[in-house]
Amino acid sequence: MDNNKIPVLAAPLQGVTDNVWRMAQHAVFGGVDAYYSPFMRVEHGEVRRKDLRDVDPERNAGITLIPQILACQPDHALMMVDALQQMGYHRIDINLGCPFPPIALHRKGSGMLAYPDLVEALFKALAAVDGVEYSVKMRLGWDRNDQWRDVLPLMDLLKPVNIAVHPRIGKQQYKGELDIEQFEAMLTASPWPMIYNGSLRSVEDIEGVISRYPTVAAVMVGSGLAANPGMFAPDAKPDDYRRFHDLLVDGYTQQLNGGEAQLVRHLQDIWQTFLPGTGHKLFKAIRKSRTIEQYENAAAAALADVENALSSKPEDETDATE
Ligand SMILES: Cc1cc2nc3c(=O)[nH]c(=O)nc-3n(C[C@H](O)[C@H](O)[C@H](O)COP(=O)(O)O)c2cc1C
Repeated sequence: MDNNKIPVLAAPLQGVTDNVWRMAQHAVFGGVDAYYSPFMRVEHGEVRRKDLRDVDPERNAGITLIPQILACQPDHALMMVDALQQMGYHRIDINLGCPFPPIALHRKGSGMLAYPDLVEALFKALAAVDGVEYSVKMRLGWDRNDQWRDVLPLMDLLKPVNIAVHPRIGKQQYKGELDIEQFEAMLTASPWPMIYNGSLRSVEDIEGVISRYPTVAAVMVGSGLAANPGMFAPDAKPDDYRRFHDLLVDGYTQQLNGGEAQLVRHLQDIWQTFLPGTGHKLFKAIRKSRTIEQYENAAAAALADVENALSSKPEDETDATE
C-alpha cells in the first residue's frame, strides 16, 4: 500500500461520520488523509445550526476536514459558502450524489443530475465567489447512467479540485451492481482529477482500485471504514476498538442534549454499521438496552468479543495484510 500511496478520504455518512466519530477515528486509528463532513443544508431560511456546530474548526482540530454542502438553489448554497468562509474554510465539497428520495425528488443531490440547467446555475453562482476551491461528489446520474455526460462539461464553470464518483445512479440508492463500465468512461472523459468511491472494505480492495485505475487521484471509503475504523491501522491493539468506542460515548454524552433515551438510541444506531461481525446475541442485547448502564454492559460484552478475536489472531494472518 505504501509503495503507491494515494490519498485516502473518509466519505461522509450522515448520522455516523460527525465530528465525534472523526476525532475518535483520528485519535485511535488514523490513516485517513482528509474527512468529508456529512452534507450541510439550509432549512427554514438558515444554515442548520447543528451542521455549523459539526464543522466548527474547534471540534475538528488536527484533522483535514472538507465541509460538504447540499443545495439546489444558488442562494442557499451561497449562504453555506459564506458561513464556511467565515469559519476559515477555503475548500468546499458540493453534493450531487445523495439518493435519498425526499432530497433527490426535490432536485437536490443526485436528483439534480437529471437537470443540467440547475447544475449550471448552481456552478455559476459558486464560481463567482472569491477565495474558495470546490470539489464535487456525485453519482453517474439520477435515473440514467449516462447523465454525467451532460454534467461533466459544466465542470468547466466550477474548475473542481477533483470529482469523487460513486458509480451507481441515484435511483439505485445503495443497492445493485456498481457500474464500473460507466465509471471507466467517465474517468477517461474527465479532464479533472477523479476519485473512486464504492464498496472498498479493505486495504486489498484499495490496492485493487489503484492498480486497475492508475490515474485515479484518491480513493474514498465510507461504510467499510464505519464498519472497521481501524482499516488503516494494521498495528491496532485489541483494546483500540474499546478506546474508540469510549471516545464516542464521551463525545455524544457531551454533545447530545436530549437526555438518556436519545443518547442510548444514538449509540445503538452506531452498531448498525460498526463491527458488523458482532454476534447476533450481543447485538440484540445492545438493541434491547434502554438505559445507559444497560447499553454500556451490552457494548462492553460485544467489545470484549472483538478483543478476544483480535488477541487470538495468528501473527502470520496480521502480516498477510501488510
Ligand atoms: C447512512 C449514509 C449516509 C450518507 N451520507 C452522505 C452524505 O452526507 N454526503 C454524501 O456525499 N454521501 C453520503 N453517503 C454516501 C457515502 O458517502 C458513499 O458515497 C457511499 O456510501 C458509497 O461508498 P461506500 O461503499 O464506501 O460506503 C451516505 C451513505 C450512507 C450509507
